[in-house]
Amino acid sequence: MCGIVGYIGNQDASDILLKGLSNLEYRGYDSAGIALLNAEGVHIFKEKGRIAALRNIVDPNVRATMGIGHTRWATHGEPNRRNAHPHQSASGRFAIVHNGVIENFASLRDQYLSGVPLRSDTDTEIVVQLIECFVTGGMGVEAALRKTLKLVEGSYAIALLDRENPEMIYVGKNKSPLLIGVGDGFHVVASDATAMIQQTKQYVELMDEEIVLLTRDSYVIKDLDGKVKRRKPYTVSFDARDTEKGAYPHYMLKEIDEQPAVLRRLLQKYEDETGHLSVDSAITRAIQNADRLYIVACGTSYHAGLVGKQLIEQIAQIPTEVHISSEFSYNTPLLSKKPLFIFISQSGETADSRTVLVKVKKMGYPTLTLTNVEGSTLYREADYKMLLYAGPEIAVASTKAYTAQIAVLSFIAIAAAESKGIALDFEPIHELSFVAQAMERMIDQKAQLKEIARNYLSVTRNAFYIGRGIDYYVCMEAALKLKEVSYIQAEGFAGGELKHGTIALIEDGTPVLAFTTQPNVNNSIRSNVQEVSTRGAYTCIISMEGVTDKPDDQIVLPKVHRFFTPLVCAIPLQLIAYYAALQNECDVDKPRNLAKSVTVE
Ligand code: M6R
Repeated sequence: MCGIVGYIGNQDASDILLKGLSNLEYRGYDSAGIALLNAEGVHIFKEKGRIAALRNIVDPNVRATMGIGHTRWATHGEPNRRNAHPHQSASGRFAIVHNGVIENFASLRDQYLSGVPLRSDTDTEIVVQLIECFVTGGMGVEAALRKTLKLVEGSYAIALLDRENPEMIYVGKNKSPLLIGVGDGFHVVASDATAMIQQTKQYVELMDEEIVLLTRDSYVIKDLDGKVKRRKPYTVSFDARDTEKGAYPHYMLKEIDEQPAVLRRLLQKYEDETGHLSVDSAITRAIQNADRLYIVACGTSYHAGLVGKQLIEQIAQIPTEVHISSEFSYNTPLLSKKPLFIFISQSGETADSRTVLVKVKKMGYPTLTLTNVEGSTLYREADYKMLLYAGPEIAVASTKAYTAQIAVLSFIAIAAAESKGIALDFEPIHELSFVAQAMERMIDQKAQLKEIARNYLSVTRNAFYIGRGIDYYVCMEAALKLKEVSYIQAEGFAGGELKHGTIALIEDGTPVLAFTTQPNVNNSIRSNVQEVSTRGAYTCIISMEGVTDKPDDQIVLPKVHRFFTPLVCAIPLQLIAYYAALQNECDVDKPRNLAKSVTVE
């Protein structure tokens, strides 16, 4: 939700900020703006829509070597130029960009800013006006910033320019992600490292309730009481090429294609010197000590969690519950005596999940995060962590992170089973290598999957995916993927549940796509297909070679071990969604109303 960048150095800031914002566009793309500071003062450019629209209105004659920028996913105030960031204080002295939500903005406005004419409908403007109000009252800028940030409730990652001080960018962070990038004679600020990876690979993490005084040559981190904190930069493990599309028309397609390679990389990363898949022994012990696992996640990560539950319960025989983060926060279930919480998050920044993490940590329970982003909030704050090693995922719709999450959950299940002395009926690395090959075979069937999308999804406004057991969870993800990128209303249902109500929606031509990879439910799901077909549905069966297939099935997946079928199913479900989105002329990588990193609750 919103991306922010900042630059202070010796080069043309406007170009660096615009490039950084383009890299961050996946975080929000309804309006954007930059503020440049030079000897003439603060120059603000903002525009509704994408960064390309902003680029068109930035005056190339304004030269500056420092500035801040923002790409917005609107929360307070409709997406238009007036509400786009940066926002300025009443006198124009200060300009601010902000990612997050100031929950008490109305009470702060009423208490401190009654005489100040506000120029936007945003919560953000309150912050910059408060800073100016305290400075006008006689405070120094740093003190005014700290006082303001002590007053605000909610989440913020901010960067602030002061017309009177062209040597400094003021930065603050609470709950929303923010990094400082360190270079030779320059510094950058960014919501994540991908934004500024062209500038530097050295980043400094910021903790909650910290500010930074950033100059060309130094970064001074302080807490809100002004106490200095020292922290060294770390080197990010990817480079600029990982964030590029290359010859692909869309990131989503590139990321779908990368999945076999990601799985192979994961096998290497989690293989020990004896050639076995292994998980950190501290994590295995934490699992052994737990009487129940609680998986907490949102969206696609939640769907990976549902598959993970099946794997952990069936392979390691450990009872496991899966919860949607935003529900768990206030609708907390009765917990077992010794729970272990597993958070799954591609970004590691999802606010709903973080709220639960903070809550259960306060309750004293152990926590493990599975994430793709080293150094992210959920990564830092959990007791134990496992990385997904999927590389930067840029398309808003998650693909390779989803399969990486399932793979890592299977590693947990396998390690937990082995630590309990449960004999496995498969050799993990061997089976998962087969899975990577099977994924490749499905990726090679793009033409066929494109044809399925054309045949089933080109004129429809709705569609259903049905499955049973582990295939049901695959269907939930298939429906989400289709919805988010093609805007076709889609639902994933348990095959047996249709007749209890949803079957009323089936009419002539309604597309119903069934996943059937498990022999024990093959006959039942095929009966469900018959039931809807009899009522006019246009049905498509996706089965598994030598396990559940029949001659007329529309797609037959290569055979893999029954535990790993969701990894192979992921490819057709993602490609069908991708091609349906193309047919509907949707913006595949940046679907409407969505953002990649959901940092507000
Ligand atoms: O970064 P996270 O995995 O925590 O994000 C969770 C969801 O917001 C995310 O999976 C979302 O559902 C994606 N749009 C899925 O494609």
